[in-house]
Amino acid sequence: MKFFIDTANLADIAEANSLGVLDGVTTNPSLMAKEGISGNENILNHYKAICEIVDGPISAEVIATDFENMIREGEILADLHPNIVVKVPMIEEGIKAIRYFSDKGIKTNCTLIFSAGQALLAAKAGATYVSPFIGRLDDVSVDGTDLIQQIRTIFDNYGFETQILAASVRHSIHIIKCAEIGADVMTGPLSAIKALLKHPLTDIGLEKFLADYKKVNG
Ligand code: E4P
Repeated sequence: MKFFIDTANLADIAEANSLGVLDGVTTNPSLMAKEGISGNENILNHYKAICEIVDGPISAEVIATDFENMIREGEILADLHPNIVVKVPMIEEGIKAIRYFSDKGIKTNCTLIFSAGQALLAAKAGATYVSPFIGRLDDVSVDGTDLIQQIRTIFDNYGFETQILAASVRHSIHIIKCAEIGADVMTGPLSAIKALLKHPLTDIGLEKFLADYKKVNG
């Protein structure tokens, strides 16, 4: 399973990248706003800065909701760097835009997926990735990982090449469940990735190893 980090924070991106397990980055307008990035030029420069840190797919989202402007924005984003993936919302105009980008060889990430039908439609339009938001489904008392399983079954039934990018991951259990199901990618915050490191028995075991070494070696 590929690991993407879901943030626009350059320090977090660099820290995750330094672990040697990072495959890519996803951003969205809320994450960019959280970092105080505003204005077209600053936004584009920020994407370029992310591309300089991580050598892998970097999702950059369009703001427009009509076909013509999605195309215009997406082409500007795609021209920034070969690793840019144009993130398009799951709406009717978005599906048309995904088909357009796909025909042009521009990679896409269809975002805000909350049902298997939406994922199927995006895959048929040629999306490179679909992003089911599992944490936000959990927030409304629906098990988001059930959706990942449903999409996995459908994509496998028909051999779709569209990758399942489990998004809105909140904690390490989400990551493990998605890995068990066979999601192609997960995107989550640095905290969820680093939580995978932790087990109290590891800490206790290491403490004992070091203490025993010290006993005989001073
Ligand atoms: C997906 O690409 C989104 O950026 C993201 O995973 C949303 O997560 P959230 O529900 O934690 O905002």
